[in-house]
Amino acid sequence: MKMNSTKQLMLENLEATPLAYGAIILNKEKFIQVLNEINALSNLFLLKNKIVSLKSIITSPKNDRNGLLNIDTNGDTISLRRDILISELNQILEAKTLERAKYYLKRLENGVQKVKTSKINDINLLRWKEYDEIITDSLWVLDKRDTSGAHFAWYWGNFIPQIPHQTLLRYTKKGDWVLDTFVGSGTTLIECRRLGRNGIGIELNSEVAQKAKCLVEKEYNRYKVTTEVAVGDSRTIEMRNILDKYEINQVQLLIMHPPYHNIIKFSNDKKDLSNAKSIEEFLKMLGEVVDNASPFLEKGRYFTLVIGDKYSKGEWIPLGFYCMNEVLKRGYLLKSIIVKNFEETRGKRNQKELWRYRALVGGFYIFKHEYIMLFKKK
Ligand SMILES: C[S@@+](CC[C@H](N)C(=O)[O-])C[C@H]1O[C@@H](n2cnc3c(N)ncnc32)[C@H](O)[C@@H]1O
Repeated sequence: MKMNSTKQLMLENLEATPLAYGAIILNKEKFIQVLNEINALSNLFLLKNKIVSLKSIITSPKNDRNGLLNIDTNGDTISLRRDILISELNQILEAKTLERAKYYLKRLENGVQKVKTSKINDINLLRWKEYDEIITDSLWVLDKRDTSGAHFAWYWGNFIPQIPHQTLLRYTKKGDWVLDTFVGSGTTLIECRRLGRNGIGIELNSEVAQKAKCLVEKEYNRYKVTTEVAVGDSRTIEMRNILDKYEINQVQLLIMHPPYHNIIKFSNDKKDLSNAKSIEEFLKMLGEVVDNASPFLEKGRYFTLVIGDKYSKGEWIPLGFYCMNEVLKRGYLLKSIIVKNFEETRGKRNQKELWRYRALVGGFYIFKHEYIMLFKKK
């Protein structure tokens, strides 16, 4: 991955939220000075002794005789996750050679002094251990929906906020633009506001769009980003006009969470993908949406497709993979297929026994998963 040049630490632009995990705030200048002094030692035993003293300050502030924890209001501070800092100091203590110990020490110093991010997100790779909120496995078992803030889960067929949350953190930077062509209740836009990304959502159903707008407005706009819900058919809406309004040429992330064909009927509108007469027609319609939006996605950036399979007449229809193929026909590289568990809706929970019986009789399995497919524009 090509990295941006290493630049000065700008905490407000980074994603780490160390305070939530138990942070220690240090006088940055003093801390670097202490690290430099330790690094200058040429005896492993002495070096480790100094690390032990440093560790005792981190674990017990009353041992601070160097002013490491003196935060003066005009001074530069650094906020680090205490548990990770301690584990890094332990790693130095476990080093078998002076050379190795100095390597770990230098790495710690770099993480304090510098920032290394990629072109597509604000994750500081020099402090990657602090981002345990970010999932990197392809199996997501999420037991609870995030219902905080404006996320009310009122819309049947919405996705859980963790989906846009994770993809925004991984594939966008603060200030980037996100386009969701099936915005529904506005989950993506609420997350955009939280994370400081601009968002455009398109929704066919004007009533749903209106409700989404009101809800999105309720979310505190800390980063003063733009979030817009446009009403229209994502196959034909003039994307250029929408983007021109904000004087942007392209977006940096595309999100699509279309109907899973006719599993949920969203309206009676013929333009609604949930009313496609056949799988073939559904795929054609989805392809048209992809064709309409793709020219406005920046090259090298990501497209998130959230989709599930379906049953029809006793047969498993791999709708997710059919949709994947539609996207792959259009100049994208497949980066990941994530399998995510389904939450049980209240209705389904009541029918659980019945479905189990049907599954045993019919020789099939009950759907418990959907896909989050990630593509990169070539
Ligand atoms: C699965 S839902 C998306 C839910 C959304 N992710 C959320 O969290 O609320 C699909 C949405 O696509 C909308 N839709 C269907 N056909 C469309 C089209 N041609 N253009 C735009 N939106 C469409 C439906 O009205 C529905 O709200």
